[in-house]
Amino acid sequence: MSSPLRVGFLGAGLIATFHSKVLRASGVEVERVGVWDPDRGRAEGFVAAAGGFVADGEDQVLDGCDAVYVCTWTSEHPRLVSAAVARGLAVFCEKPLAVDLATATRLADEVVAAGVTNQVGLVLRRSPAFNLVRALIADEAAGPVMAAVFRDDQFIPIQGHYGSTWRGDVAKAGAGTFLEHSIHDVDLVEHLLGPVTSVSARSAHVHDLPGIEDSVSALLELASGATVTLTSVWHDVLARPSLRRLEVLCRDRWIAVEDDWTGPVTWQDPTGEPTTLSGAELLAECERRGIATPNPDGDFVTAAAAGAPAWPDVTVALRAHRLVDAVYRSAASGGSPVATVLG
Ligand SMILES: NC(=O)c1ccc[n+]([C@@H]2O[C@H](COP(=O)([O-])OP(=O)(O)OC[C@H]3O[C@@H](n4cnc5c(N)ncnc54)[C@H](O)[C@@H]3O)[C@@H](O)[C@H]2O)c1
Repeated sequence: MSSPLRVGFLGAGLIATFHSKVLRASGVEVERVGVWDPDRGRAEGFVAAAGGFVADGEDQVLDGCDAVYVCTWTSEHPRLVSAAVARGLAVFCEKPLAVDLATATRLADEVVAAGVTNQVGLVLRRSPAFNLVRALIADEAAGPVMAAVFRDDQFIPIQGHYGSTWRGDVAKAGAGTFLEHSIHDVDLVEHLLGPVTSVSARSAHVHDLPGIEDSVSALLELASGATVTLTSVWHDVLARPSLRRLEVLCRDRWIAVEDDWTGPVTWQDPTGEPTTLSGAELLAECERRGIATPNPDGDFVTAAAAGAPAWPDVTVALRAHRLVDAVYRSAASGGSPVATVLG
């Protein structure tokens, strides 16, 4: 029997810890190897909880693993992913790929050319709640989608359980709420509703952090003819966790989702009471409808061990970067429409 895949981590913060736990929950056997974080206390805490060993630097991790998670702040992603693919490693890169579109494009091209297994952290594509919404939209009984209203808000993540401040530093984060958080939302809009053809947007900087916008309102036009209004805000209501609410208005069905992973999801048709499902009931409904509810980290390491493609990959992330960039260009112009036709 071949030996288990050796998995290393670059960055040992919030999302690395999350991946480590999800990977453990997947039950897929791997060998935990090097963990590097310049914040040594974080690396030590991670290893104490997850296994592996605290490495002396990034090269020790990269030279001693078959697959690596790149979970640093955003500005470090391109350099570390390049170093990984140069060694032929499978790589999981957190979103965003980079602080700007030009760098994300170069990186995605490099990863694709290397032909390595790669996956990105656009994890909402795998959410049971959003995939149930996707099935409810695709159902002929819903009729065509007419419009959607998407609100994404959270307290500005330079405090509280984030335990870090880099999201307030444009050199490390690239931008504010839209790149850091709503890259998920634009990706999800295309996953649920199809291609976006044009965007117009306005943005604001209420917290006065240079280069870090904390309020964006965007209008997305879809190839289907429907429109989406998307509002993304970083406020100071610390008691309020990261929350998304999406309402999809079809001709014959209203659908709302209020939590990223297991709902509640509510829908109502022309006659009858609304149906609301969440938690175990929602998962059972997904199973009944044949909607897969996979473990993203288990799938990544399984694909890496087989040398097979993983999903969502850098090409999916690059498309999301293009949409984010279009929103920023529109906002910089005062709201002029920017075309985003797939090319
Ligand atoms: N997919 C998601 O839902 C999701 C959620 C949270 C964060 N993220 C993304 O994950 C990344 C990390 O976010 P986080 O919340 O874990 O941040 P974090 O601050 O908790 O952890 C980042 C860690 O990276 C370390 N680091 C910086 N440079 C490094 C280097 N060269 N090598 C190794 N470690 C290095 C820092 O010391 C820090 O401990 C960001 O790009 C963020 O956008 C994605």
